[in-house]
Amino acid sequence: MKMKKNSPLKHYSSPEQSRGQPVLSSDRPLPRGAKCNRCRGQAEVHLPSHHANFCPDCFIHFVRTAVIRALKEVNFQPRPLMVAVSGGKDSLAVWDLLHQLGYQTKGLHINLGISGFSEASSQAVDDFASSRGLEWSEYCLEDVFGYSIPEVHRLLRGKTCSLCGRLKRAFFNRLTVREGFNTLVTGHNLDDEAGRLLGNLVGKRLEHVYKQYPYLPSPHPLIPAKLKPLYRLEIKELLAYCRLKNITPVQKICSYSRGATSHTFKQALDFLEDSMPGTKRSFLFSYLRDSQLKDRLACEQDGEGQRDRKTEYGLCQECGCPAYAHRCGICSLRQRLGDKEKSKQQRSELKRQHLCLEEQK
Ligand code: AMP
Ligand code: FES
Ligand code: ZN
Repeated sequence: MKMKKNSPLKHYSSPEQSRGQPVLSSDRPLPRGAKCNRCRGQAEVHLPSHHANFCPDCFIHFVRTAVIRALKEVNFQPRPLMVAVSGGKDSLAVWDLLHQLGYQTKGLHINLGISGFSEASSQAVDDFASSRGLEWSEYCLEDVFGYSIPEVHRLLRGKTCSLCGRLKRAFFNRLTVREGFNTLVTGHNLDDEAGRLLGNLVGKRLEHVYKQYPYLPSPHPLIPAKLKPLYRLEIKELLAYCRLKNITPVQKICSYSRGATSHTFKQALDFLEDSMPGTKRSFLFSYLRDSQLKDRLACEQDGEGQRDRKTEYGLCQECGCPAYAHRCGICSLRQRLGDKEKSKQQRSELKRQHLCLEEQK
């Protein structure tokens, strides 16, 4: 979906750029005397969607409580966690919070091979982990898949961002299991989830709405459970948390993410949020809490409602990973890339031969 040229949203910057009432800003501080809702001290953080102001310490308490509440709401039972860390604010914040809350964690970073961006992302993870003595593993997409993201882009053009998402999701699963964990944490926040919900509803992808639940148990021994502890926290809140905790996320932006439709849905919700604070969270939470919808969608997904999802999986004949067909989506994609590469090589060889013949004439 493309944004129209004169769309009102076009001029509407993301909340990461300073717009509207900032959560924590040195250029627009809260007036002297503004009180923290929790301790009545000087407030420095304003949360419009909660109609609340906090001092830095109470704000950190608020963020922690949001994560504890998220884990409680999905009835999460403590166990070692593999945390997918991109080097961005969300994944570094979630790792920090889970570590602070006493969870046993290990970071997992996938280096996508994007010049400049990937080195900086990996460095941000390393700086964060080494300053806290946390363990993490880094895998290069090229090593585990055979192609880096720029190579995928060179060969398939156009859909790089969504292919990258698909590859990351698949390798998060595979590498989490390879590392001996059964639960994968990602840093998806309230804005990500609300934007995705809007996109799924607009596209009537109801089965995906069901899969948006912040905790999904493992459907197969080779697929880890998925946990999103930040689904109650907004982008702005996480930015403020990182600033207060001296967490330095990667500053570079991936060049392939420009024009992703997910940004447009998030911007549309920010537009509503700006005039009606709280809209984003009530939109998301009304769906997450709707048990009737959850049951109905679960039934739709399972056909008669009671089928064992484990039996739906076979194993890929090439890589042995869970798959619905004889070959998994990742092996099919690798094959497509290989075919494309061969036909490109053949075309350039023909061109070369043609030029030689022309020269000989
Ligand atoms: P994104 O889809 O880029 O918004 O990322 C969503 C979540 O996926 C992040 O919060 C991370 O937990 C995880 N993630 C994204 N990219 C990577 C990466 N290259 N390596 C590890 N985890 C990642
Ligand atoms: Fe995947 Fe940009 S991070 S294409
Ligand atoms: Zn496979």
